[in-house]
Amino acid sequence: MIPRHVAFIMDGNGRWAQELGLPRNQGHRAGTDNLKRIIKYARTKGIEVLTFYAFSTENFSRPLSEVTFLFSLISEYFQREIQEMIEEGMQVHFLGDLSLFPRPVRMVLEKTQQLTEKGDAIRVNIALGYGARAEILSAVNALLKEGVEKVDEEQFASKLYTAGVPDPDLIIRTSGEQRLSNFLLYQSAYSELYFTDRYWPDFDTEAFEEALTEYGSRSRRYGGIEEK
Ligand code: IPE
Ligand code: IPE
Ligand code: MG
Repeated sequence: MIPRHVAFIMDGNGRWAQELGLPRNQGHRAGTDNLKRIIKYARTKGIEVLTFYAFSTENFSRPLSEVTFLFSLISEYFQREIQEMIEEGMQVHFLGDLSLFPRPVRMVLEKTQQLTEKGDAIRVNIALGYGARAEILSAVNALLKEGVEKVDEEQFASKLYTAGVPDPDLIIRTSGEQRLSNFLLYQSAYSELYFTDRYWPDFDTEAFEEALTEYGSRSRRYGGIEEK
């Protein structure tokens, strides 16, 4: 059984670098370079949607030098990779409040989204300036603005950044931490969670395959009883 939607909490870039005696930022660079191999592998597996948690609303509280480095890394990455992304048929979406980013970065992100909108091989969501609580509150506020008195699940989901995307079947967190850190709190109601000690830059296709095998052995019950 292959999951339709796999989401990644790409954690451990800083520790990966520190253990090699490198500055943390080198870890972020290595982590960014890892994205491509994971996306390509997911495509060969027939996975339809990938979501990567790249920068949370809380990550803005990091030292300015790290935040600034991440901004330039992100915008360089999408400028460099855009052509290949189009050729590979990726449809890229950013989940989060892009207004939190400086204008030049935002423009690169918006352009990436526009230029890949016809991609039909795989959908790739990048969560940037993303926090699940902020996402839920912005959905609530959007509904209040429409003057609704009552909301159902479908209506609510349509106001989330993930509107139209199936919930994640599998959430993988690297680096040994076992928490969601404000990631997809509404959408993860029945997601399978997978934790690995590997740091994100070391999370290779073999490690991904292991996670997929483990997912395949799980029994998803959604509150019901096991189907034979
Ligand atoms: C994840 O790696 C990337 C971001 C949150 C931007 P970290 O930077 O959190 O790495 P650790 O957890 O400090 O090792
Ligand atoms: C979660 O990692 C956010 C991303 C991977 C972008 P953090 O490193 O920010 O999470 P905590 O602080 O360890 O919970
Ligand atoms: Mg971390």
